[in-house]
Amino acid sequence: MKLFKKAADIRDFIAARKKERGKIGFVPTMGALHEGHLSLVRQAREAGELVVCSIFVNPIQFNDQDDFEKYPSTLEQDINQLEQAGCDIVFMPAIPEIYPNGYRHPHVYPLGYLETVLEGKYRPGHFQGVCMVVERLLTVIDPAHIYLGQKDFQQCLVIRELIRLIGSKAETVICPTIREKDGLAMSSRNLRLNIAERSMAARIYETLEFIRAGIRTGYLQDLKERARQYLTAAGFRVDYVEIADADTLELQEEWDGRKPLVILVAAFLHEVRLIDNMLI
Ligand code: PAF
Repeated sequence: MKLFKKAADIRDFIAARKKERGKIGFVPTMGALHEGHLSLVRQAREAGELVVCSIFVNPIQFNDQDDFEKYPSTLEQDINQLEQAGCDIVFMPAIPEIYPNGYRHPHVYPLGYLETVLEGKYRPGHFQGVCMVVERLLTVIDPAHIYLGQKDFQQCLVIRELIRLIGSKAETVICPTIREKDGLAMSSRNLRLNIAERSMAARIYETLEFIRAGIRTGYLQDLKERARQYLTAAGFRVDYVEIADADTLELQEEWDGRKPLVILVAAFLHEVRLIDNMLI
């Protein structure tokens, strides 16, 4: 496995290797890797692609400075895990490699509705920051596929839209959420939970299951409200419990029993904000 810190170096290396190995499968991460990330690497590997993984904690996608400062870092372990999972190349740039001209972007990405709801509403500027780093990474790595976890469902739709906006030829591959035994979605932020919070965190998955099992055609408000109350009673500070159209993310008040839906939850356990979702 090769490690690179400089954009120019990895670009040259990839260009040379592409001739022998064909397509590039790219897994963007912010480190603190877990089985969810590694499953993306394995999927790219199984597709026979040259697998590139980036590790870069992108300062401008954190709308909360505290969250940025406390973002876990486990670099040495990450590198070992990537090697074992079959990653070919790791890109670990410092900030000036990604933002040689500073953080200011010459334009705002016109993400439209996608940026006004759910994570877009509760984390202003977050998706602009995600787009900025992903555009830069796509330019450097030029992959055929970008592998993303369904856990960040809205981010997957945003990146798909970004790819359309910038005319990249990369295709998104959305991979299933990997869960702990009790259903908690794997996330780097789980490392910040203490023992009591960790056992409580599985309630988010239980809430998704509660909605999935209880959903009927007709109005959805009562079901969403009961789910929100369940989380609040368990000690969560809930940002949202929502049910949306799985293709457009438009929030749904009613269901016709046919439209594909996604249930989405975001809630704080003390300082740690957790998100999860489930497709119906
Ligand atoms: O999902 C993440 O870890 C980040 O948002 C990403 C896609 C690596 C961009 O910084």
